[in-house]
Amino acid sequence: MTHRARRWAVVLAAGRGERFGAGVPKQYRRLLGRTVLEWSLGALLAERRIDAVLVALAPGDRRWARLEYAEDPRVMTCEGGTKREHSLRAALDALQGRADDRDWIVVHDAARPCLRAEDLARLLNQVGGDPVGGLLAVPLSDTLKRADRNGRSRGTVGRESLWRALTPQMFRYGVLRRGLALCVDRERAVTDVESAVECLGLRPLLVRGRTDNIKITHAEDLAIADALLRAGRPRR
Ligand code: CTP
Ligand code: MG
Repeated sequence: MTHRARRWAVVLAAGRGERFGAGVPKQYRRLLGRTVLEWSLGALLAERRIDAVLVALAPGDRRWARLEYAEDPRVMTCEGGTKREHSLRAALDALQGRADDRDWIVVHDAARPCLRAEDLARLLNQVGGDPVGGLLAVPLSDTLKRADRNGRSRGTVGRESLWRALTPQMFRYGVLRRGLALCVDRERAVTDVESAVECLGLRPLLVRGRTDNIKITHAEDLAIADALLRAGRPRR
């Protein structure tokens, strides 16, 4: 019997946005009339190959229930954890019994509202036939400096073969779970999905993504995201 691998998206939205600053958490800030989280979620749901989305929310989140997506039958939620990797873990646990080991898990940061349909499509196309999985990434373009303790440059670090990891990241459910479990056994910190997979000795595919798939980290990033969404707004 053949099995069609399903594609589950996981949106990580349980962070506290400490670098962004106090007030409404960054995933609930508004951009062109919608919250940051709605943009990120909407980008995934617009792709027909995504079967369902699981959103990891902070414990006690009272803003989610007010969004229209809270009623969407393709969208589920779970409670996230104290660090990003804990939220991912919680999401994978929530999919236990529902996701098959061969299903794809497409992990996306709620804080990346500018994901373009073409980037998501490229990831699905290029990784869909890969045995391991992969992620959107961009080769470094800036010159890198190594600083000394006094904040002075000790020299230039070669940037050849260095990439910045973006999201979404896409892996088979079984591979992710095995990787996370192994990292825990070895007491290695799992800061992202790829390191869990790399724990298994596997090498995720780097899929060239757009540089404007920015992560809202600091308060000033919101204005950049606003300008990007305005520029790329699809005609309705
Ligand atoms: N995230 C999460 N659970 C956490 C921490 C982060 O789901 N415990 C999510 C964030 O909501 C965000 C994404 O992971 O969408 C990327 O993390 P980051 O940009 O670091 O967001 P925060 O952790 O919220 O911000 P900060 O590190 O400045 O506190
Ligand atoms: Mg963080």
